[in-house]
Amino acid sequence: MLVLGIESSCDETGVALYDSERGLVAHQLHTQMAMHAEYGGVVPELASRDHIRRLVPLTEGCLCEAGADYGDIDAVAFTQGPGLGGALLAGSSFANALAFALGKPVIPVHHLEGHLLSPLLADDKPAFPFVALLVSGGHTQIMAVRGIGDYTLLGESVDDAAGEAFDKTAKLLGLPYPGGAQLSELARSGRPDAFSFPRPMLHSHDLQMSFSGLKTAVLTAVEKVHAETGGIIPGQTRNDICRAFQDAVVDVLTAKCRKALLDTGFRTLVVAGGVGANWKLRDTFSRLTVTVPSEKGRAKAQPEAVKVYFPPLAYCTDNGAMIAFAGAMRLHEQREAGGFNVKPRWPLSEIVK
Ligand code: KG4
Ligand code: ZN
Repeated sequence: MLVLGIESSCDETGVALYDSERGLVAHQLHTQMAMHAEYGGVVPELASRDHIRRLVPLTEGCLCEAGADYGDIDAVAFTQGPGLGGALLAGSSFANALAFALGKPVIPVHHLEGHLLSPLLADDKPAFPFVALLVSGGHTQIMAVRGIGDYTLLGESVDDAAGEAFDKTAKLLGLPYPGGAQLSELARSGRPDAFSFPRPMLHSHDLQMSFSGLKTAVLTAVEKVHAETGGIIPGQTRNDICRAFQDAVVDVLTAKCRKALLDTGFRTLVVAGGVGANWKLRDTFSRLTVTVPSEKGRAKAQPEAVKVYFPPLAYCTDNGAMIAFAGAMRLHEQREAGGFNVKPRWPLSEIVK
């Protein structure tokens, strides 16, 4: 079965071909980052128009890469939501029109399910069940994943998503949109303990998170530096702020994931979404252990290793491969297919098992 995957929920047009026997056979991406950078954020109308321009050439590029023809496609999967309404409609219209012309099924895919399953695209795949940390520009959620379509939300950010906090903080520091990745690179040269930012909700005894206060703490620090320097942030100071900010986000995500692993009893953690590309998060999680609290009078429990999986870097941020793959899983499981409509707001908990 050859499944064409179409991703157009935000500012990346992703197209890919997934073969249920051979795996991923083609993958093409166009990022609109440079186009939106001029405006300091995504301009939805421009995003929709650009998706329309890119979908046909990217699809033909994929067919060429895979040495396949339109007639070889067995199903067309597309991101139905959540995302920008117009951008989603561009992908949905294209997917439905193509599937209709080919007489093949169309499979609507939930964008976050795509992210969630993307680590399964790697050679070394996680086995179910696992805890999944979804950290993107729009979502920060911790889920219990027991199988395809079997997702339980354990906790999430009550305000900004972690990626959003990265981007907003980067903007505060004068970095171009979307500054998350650049902030993370500058953090490499930041000195430890030059700044210290709060770890919001670290001790909330649940799996809820909050990142908007952290951004405000950075704003206060930036204003203080501005007052001292007459409006400029020296390079080293900026890097120090980047480091302290990143350390705070990673600390919160680590503590919450550790708690989710203890609560569920699972010892596998899967990280997906754009912030999953973050080097500090990868570094910290690669050494992650959990220790079950020992009962009174019992010997101290030993730390237990956790197996942590990240999607290959290319599939961390938005891409068509994860949509083609999730579509193939849904087709394989003979799930209900079809649907032209898009769902800009669509909680993952609403998708059918
Ligand atoms: O999953 P994604 O491509 O799109 C959404 O569905 O949101 O995630 C994009 C987010 C952006 O906020 C971006 O700044 C962030 O992921 N991001 C990073 C890094 N690379 C991308 N954040 C921190 N460190 C990175 N290396
Ligand atoms: Zn995404």
